[in-house]
Amino acid sequence: METIPSILEKRLRAAVDEPGDTPLLIASATDSRFGDYQSNAAMLLAKQRRMNPRAVAQQIVERIGVEDICSGVEIAGAGFINFRLRADWVQARVLQLRDDPRLGVPEPARTLGIVIDFSSPNVAKPMHVGHIRSTILGDSLARIAEYIGHKVVRDNHIGDWGTQFGMLLLGWKTILDRVALAQDPLLEMERIYKDVSARCRGEEGVLEKARHELVLLQSGDLENLALWKEMIRLSQFQFDAIYGRLGVRFDVTLGESFYNDQLKAVVDELRSLEIAKESDGAICVFSDGSLAQEQDVFLIKDKEGWRDNPAIVLKSDGAANYTTTDLATLQYRIQTWKPDEIIYVTDGRQQLHFRQMFTIFRRWHPASSAQVKLSHVWFGSILGDDGKPFKTRSGETIRLADLLDEAQERSFAQVSERNPAMAEEERREIARIIGIGAVKYADLLPHRQGDYVFNWDRMLSFQGNTAPYLQNAYVRIRSIFRKLAEAGEIWEAGSPLILEHPAEIALGKRLLEFGEVLPNVLLDHRPNTLANYLYELANTFHAFYEACPVLKSEGTQRQSRFELCDVASRMIKTGLGLLGIEVPERM
Ligand code: ARG
Repeated sequence: METIPSILEKRLRAAVDEPGDTPLLIASATDSRFGDYQSNAAMLLAKQRRMNPRAVAQQIVERIGVEDICSGVEIAGAGFINFRLRADWVQARVLQLRDDPRLGVPEPARTLGIVIDFSSPNVAKPMHVGHIRSTILGDSLARIAEYIGHKVVRDNHIGDWGTQFGMLLLGWKTILDRVALAQDPLLEMERIYKDVSARCRGEEGVLEKARHELVLLQSGDLENLALWKEMIRLSQFQFDAIYGRLGVRFDVTLGESFYNDQLKAVVDELRSLEIAKESDGAICVFSDGSLAQEQDVFLIKDKEGWRDNPAIVLKSDGAANYTTTDLATLQYRIQTWKPDEIIYVTDGRQQLHFRQMFTIFRRWHPASSAQVKLSHVWFGSILGDDGKPFKTRSGETIRLADLLDEAQERSFAQVSERNPAMAEEERREIARIIGIGAVKYADLLPHRQGDYVFNWDRMLSFQGNTAPYLQNAYVRIRSIFRKLAEAGEIWEAGSPLILEHPAEIALGKRLLEFGEVLPNVLLDHRPNTLANYLYELANTFHAFYEACPVLKSEGTQRQSRFELCDVASRMIKTGLGLLGIEVPERM
C-alpha cells in the first residue's frame, strides 16, 4: 500500500508543477486539533521561487484536488498546510490494510542488499551486559529490513584473533583448572586470561612467554592451533546459548581470524598506493589534506593546535590490528555480497575507528566504495542507578546470562502472583516471554546514542512505555476473542468496517501510520521510533476500547469492532516481533 504522505506529496507536486528533487515533506501533524498531516512545502517553495509563502500555500490549497481524501485543507501560520482526512476514506484504507499481509508497509522502490555486522563478541570472554545493545539493535534492524523486503546478511564478526591469545595459551598450559573449565568454560578462560595479564605486568619474563605462545600460534604450531580452536568452540557454544535465549540468529559467523591471511596484502596495497606510509616503525595512514581540519578524521586538535592523528595499519612489531582486519573484512563483504549498505552496530567509543576505516577504504577502493553506504550505528552505555556503568553490587561487570536469568526470575514472581493457580510450566514460559521482552524493550526504547539507566522495576512494570504494557495490550485484545469462542461464537475476519465514533476513526488513522513509520526506522537505524509508535498504538486502542463497547455492541457495528481489534492485535504482535519481542496469549 502506498502511504498517505506519499499520496499527498504526489498531488502536491502536481499542484505546484514541481517535478524536481525538492522534498515536499508531508508529516504527521504534531497537534491533531489542526489536522492529521501537515506540510511546510509552501515555505520551501516560496523561498526557492522568491514568493510569499502564504500565497504559495493558497495556490496549493486551490489546486491540489484532494477532496476524495481530505475533509479539509487549511493554511496556518506563516504558510503551513494542514490536511484533515475524511472518515470514509480512512475507513476504506483500513479495510485495505486489513487484507494486506504487509500491514500497509509499502514495497521498497528497490530491494537492497544489506549486511549487518552485529553482536560480534570476543572469544574467550563471557558476553556481558555491554553486548546486549549491539545484539538486540542489530537483530531488530535485520528483522525490519527483511520485513520491508530487503535481502539481509547477518554477520557475526567475532573477535577470535589477536594478542590476547598469547596470554590465553600460556594460561591454558600452566594454570588451567579442568573442572572449572567443564563447568563454565568462559568463566575459566576469563580467569586464566586475567591472571596471566596481571602477571605480565608484575612478573619478570611472563610477557615474553605469552608473546612466544602467540608467535607459535601465528606460525601455525599444531598444538597451539588446536587449543585456539578449542577456545573458539567453547566460546561459540556459550554465545549460541545466549543467542538461542534471545531468539537471535546469524547467516554467517566470519570472525577476525577468517581475514588473517589477507592482512599482509592489505598493508602492501595501501603502501604501494601511497595511502599508508612508514612512521616511527609503524605503517600509518595520515590526512591527505583534502578536507577541512574539522572534518578530517586523521587530525586532532589539542592545546597546541591541530596535529596528526593517524590510523595504524601495521604496528611497529609487525602485527596487523583491528583496522587492518576491518579493511580486509570490508573488501571481502563488498566482493562477496555486493551489498548496497553495510551496517556496523557497536559502542559509541568506536566512532573514530569506523570513520577512519571508512575513509581509508574509500581512498583504497574509490569505485566500489561509491556503490555502498557504510553506516556505523553506534550506541551509548547502560548505567546503574548511581549513573555509573551498570555493575554487580560487588563492582563486577554483569554477565548477560545472569541478567537474562534475573529478568525471567523477577517476571516469574510477578506472573505467579497474578496467576497462582496456573501450572508452573506455563508460568515459566510466560515469564520467559515477558522477562526477555522487557530487557529488550528497555534497551531499544531510548534514543540509542544516549546512555540509559537500567531499572528492573520500570522495565517490568505494566504501566508506562514498557514491553509488559504492550504485551498486555495484545493479551487483552485476544481475550475478547477468547470470550467469544467460550460463548460458542465463531468469528472470522472479513466483515465490512464502519468507522463512526471518533475513537474508531482515531484508531483507524493510527493503524495506517505503521507503513509510514517502519521504512523510516531503517533510514536512520532507530528502532526506538517503532517502539514509540507501538506505545501510541496501544494507547489509541485503549482509548477506543474505553469509548466503544465491543462484545456488548450489536450487528454490523459489533463485527466491525471485532475487525478493528483483530488488526490492532496483529499489528502489535508484528511490531513487537520486529523488535525481537514475543507475545504471550495469557499473562
Ligand atoms: N569484537 C568487537 C568488540 O567487541 C566488535 C566488532 C565489531 N565489528 C567490526 N567489524 N569491527 O568490540
